[in-house]
Amino acid sequence: MSSMRSQLFPWILLSAVLLLTGCERPPMQSVQNGYRGTGMVQVHNPRTLEEIAPNNVAPTPLPPAPTDGPRANQVYKNVQVLGGLSQAQFARLMVSFTSWVAPAQGCLYCHNPANFAEDSKYTKVVARRMIQMTQHVNSDWTNHVAKVGVTCYTCHRGNNIPEQVWFKKDDTPMGADFIGDRAGQNEPATSVGLSSLPNDPFTPFLLGAQSIRVAGTTALPNDNRHSTKQAEWTYGLMTHMAGSLGVNCTFCHNSRSFSSWQESPPQRATAWYGIRMARDLNTQYMEPLQATFPEHRLGPTGDVAKVYCATCHQGVNKPLYGAPMLDAFPELRANTPSLDVKVSKR
Ligand code: HEC
Ligand code: HEC
Ligand code: HEC
Ligand code: HEC
Repeated sequence: MSSMRSQLFPWILLSAVLLLTGCERPPMQSVQNGYRGTGMVQVHNPRTLEEIAPNNVAPTPLPPAPTDGPRANQVYKNVQVLGGLSQAQFARLMVSFTSWVAPAQGCLYCHNPANFAEDSKYTKVVARRMIQMTQHVNSDWTNHVAKVGVTCYTCHRGNNIPEQVWFKKDDTPMGADFIGDRAGQNEPATSVGLSSLPNDPFTPFLLGAQSIRVAGTTALPNDNRHSTKQAEWTYGLMTHMAGSLGVNCTFCHNSRSFSSWQESPPQRATAWYGIRMARDLNTQYMEPLQATFPEHRLGPTGDVAKVYCATCHQGVNKPLYGAPMLDAFPELRANTPSLDVKVSKR
């Protein structure tokens, strides 16, 4: 008996090790965020939080620049958006753009050294539209970004291309028949937390305006034309949202009723605006820039890189832990009327 036990023991140990390698090493922390008994808690792994912390520190802003003296559009030749700033404010912003978007390349990432006024580099044309996009977020989407707002750094973090962007999925079936057609799902995709959910829930919801809500509101299905398949797309988007913010579903929902707004924490309303904001940025700013980008910047189906929750949030419920990005850069809030800036084509 005892010899049998000693023979079994290594196997039990081995299977336990194999089973547990799929789990995260404790201790995990849980923080309650709803009424007692609702099971609304956020579960965090302190080691993961520690790992992402250094990536989420806002850079120290340059000291403020004098606001007097001649305006930028009086001094320079081709200033279409920031013309109202003083020359010193304008220079401070150019230096900040460089550190936020092109620290390795410097001014020449956007400028022709022989003529700074010229728009020959596509990066400068894109950057001008990006300034307007940032101002639009900060002045018209305050129901999402509140007073803290965003700067170029919120998305770019010192990179030419933000680390987190999305493209449309190339969904050409792999074979000629239906067996090769995965219907946009059934392969573990990082975009949806390695689940087999539809892996591009962004095209219908963050570019298109398909209905995200799928739950019926009456006992009979008559008023609800949504299918289980449609619900999978909603779950795909929700998985992205939860993962981008580093939260559980119960950050925004009481799982007793996912659809009920009355029972949802206020963060769900903020997220609702976030969905509309991402859609707005993608349709009004990113897509119209498609022809300005060179081919090698485009996705597998030839589309421009687009924004989703992870672009700003990067694993944190408030980007950069809620750092007040606009305090030192009020010029990125100002709403400029010049929305009709010409966008040159490739
Ligand atoms: C990320 C792109 C980008 C970087 C990097 C950048 N700029 Fe600019 N720059 C722009 C854009 C866009 C404009 C036009 C702004 C407008 O239309 O309001 C501009 C305009 C200018 C102008 C006005 C030129 C004229 O006569 O019309 C000057 C001067 C200038 N930048 C200097 C600099 C300097 C110096 C640096 C480096 C410290 C720099 N820029 C880095 C994008 C950039
Ligand atoms: C909401 C997120 C977001 C903000 C804020 C933002 N950008 Fe971008 N930016 C993007 C995305 C997405 C792209 C497309 C990525 C690509 O180039 O394929 C991009 C591309 C660019 C590019 C082209 C880079 C390249 O090499 O192709 C430049 C230049 C740029 N942004 C400058 C800026 C400047 C300057 C600001 C601030 C005034 C800014 N961006 C703010 C999301 C953002
Ligand atoms: C950051 C907030 C947030 C997180 C996290 C979140 N949701 Fe949602 N959820 C929303 C919002 C906002 C809507 C409504 C979207 C709309 O109508 O545009 C919604 C809608 C839904 C719906 C549709 C409800 C209906 O009325 O038909 C389901 C189901 C759902 N979420 C499930 C989940 C699941 C499962 C998770 C975790 C994987 C999750 N959600 C995580 C904010 C969130
Ligand atoms: C342009 C950048 C940007 C994008 C894109 C973005 N957010 Fe946010 N979000 C912010 C900022 C900035 C805040 C912080 C506002 C504050 O401090 O009140 C925020 C706050 C939130 C909050 C409140 C968090 C809390 O702790 O109260 C939720 C929820 C949220 N975002 C969800 C989303 C979802 C879901 C998406 C994608 C559909 C999204 N966001 C896309 C910038 C962004």
